Amino acid sequence: MMKYLKRVLLFIVAVVVLYGVGRLGVVTYDSYRFVERQPYMVLQTQDSLTIKWQTPKKEIGKVQYGFFQDTLNNSLSEEKATDKHQIQIQGLKECTKYFYSVSSESMDIDNTNRSFTTLCKNADAQKIWVIGDSGKKGKAQTQVYEQMLKSIDNDFNQLDMWILLGDNAYRSGTQKQYNKAMFEPYKELVKRFAPVVVYGNHDARRWAFFEIFDFPAEGQSGGLRSDSQNYYAIDNGNIHFVVLDSEDTDRSADGAMAQWLKKDLQANKKPWTIVLFHTPPYSDGGHKSDSAYDSGGRLKDMRENFVPIFDAYGVDLVLSGHSHDYERSKLLINHTGTSKTFDPKKHIVQDKGSCYTKPYKAGQNSGTVYQVCGSSSKLDHADLKHPALAFSFEKMGSLVLDVTPTTLHSKFLTIDGTIADEFTIRKDTSTCQKGTK
Ligand SMILES: [Fe+2]
Repeated sequence: MMKYLKRVLLFIVAVVVLYGVGRLGVVTYDSYRFVERQPYMVLQTQDSLTIKWQTPKKEIGKVQYGFFQDTLNNSLSEEKATDKHQIQIQGLKECTKYFYSVSSESMDIDNTNRSFTTLCKNADAQKIWVIGDSGKKGKAQTQVYEQMLKSIDNDFNQLDMWILLGDNAYRSGTQKQYNKAMFEPYKELVKRFAPVVVYGNHDARRWAFFEIFDFPAEGQSGGLRSDSQNYYAIDNGNIHFVVLDSEDTDRSADGAMAQWLKKDLQANKKPWTIVLFHTPPYSDGGHKSDSAYDSGGRLKDMRENFVPIFDAYGVDLVLSGHSHDYERSKLLINHTGTSKTFDPKKHIVQDKGSCYTKPYKAGQNSGTVYQVCGSSSKLDHADLKHPALAFSFEKMGSLVLDVTPTTLHSKFLTIDGTIADEFTIRKDTSTCQKGTK
């Protein structure tokens, strides 16, 4: 009997090992394998932008661009033939719309409606679409996307930026999966926007992410240079964006990322600061911030070591994903413990639901709103009972942010087109309207 059990056990172990090795082989192959890819944009600055694409054959790549769709009177060509193309356009005008096209002999390129706008010093109004954990291709992903399109009347001119909060291509962020889950389903956005792409744990599983994207480590898009591809800043219009890496980078309170963040926020002069990273400091969804072990302790690390920095510099909004649901706090400060330690009297700056006020130059302990939006293609059943996250829904959807120099409005647009939650932060002299909770 014992002999028989031993054999069964050995067989099970062998199957598990074979599966693990096989899967690693497939993911490694898919991460490094060459895939064709239509042109997309990275490294957007006030005066430059890089266009990348991949063709089946090695050839000299060429980009044409100009102010008008039918007059692309500037052109740039590569010096050497390659199949992984990369052309940086320099000397562009700040906050200006350009049209462009890319030519290839070995691949059909969809050059319809290709455009970009350089980063802006100032802006009267900005509209930003934010998706999280969007990397599961399918009906839900499409419907969430279509609701956003409907909300802008299918007019891409209404949109200024596109942010992805990580886990952008399930299951392992391979080259092939990125095509299937991001570049193809969102191709009309890819043609028009250099996406702000956050690094999620599924992106971190293998090696394609930093091959596909390039990030402004030298401070070329605004903010302080970080000298890291994993964390950096982007200034656009009224907003100072900070992208952090909650996955693979040292998350300690005195680590290089935390030290850079403090200096960067100290130097920031923009009226709004939005911090983006994948693993949320507070969540009672598919991932639990109360657990020191959930996701290798990354939720806890981000809360204990980074929330004090957000408090110190009055960061306005922190956006994360990872839990496949929607969760949102009021204006919070100093909450670095588990949910049991949450005390509304101590940790809520303004106990309102949909409108908050902050000074124009938001200083220490002026409060931060935390939003989790990880349901742009997947939904998990969850408790959603974290006391700091007063507005939580088991619903799929995305965020639409509208930002002016003095107001930030965020709405959670659900898969069925309803707005399940929304709030405004005001930084002008007027207070929240009477009757606003
Ligand atoms: Fe995740």
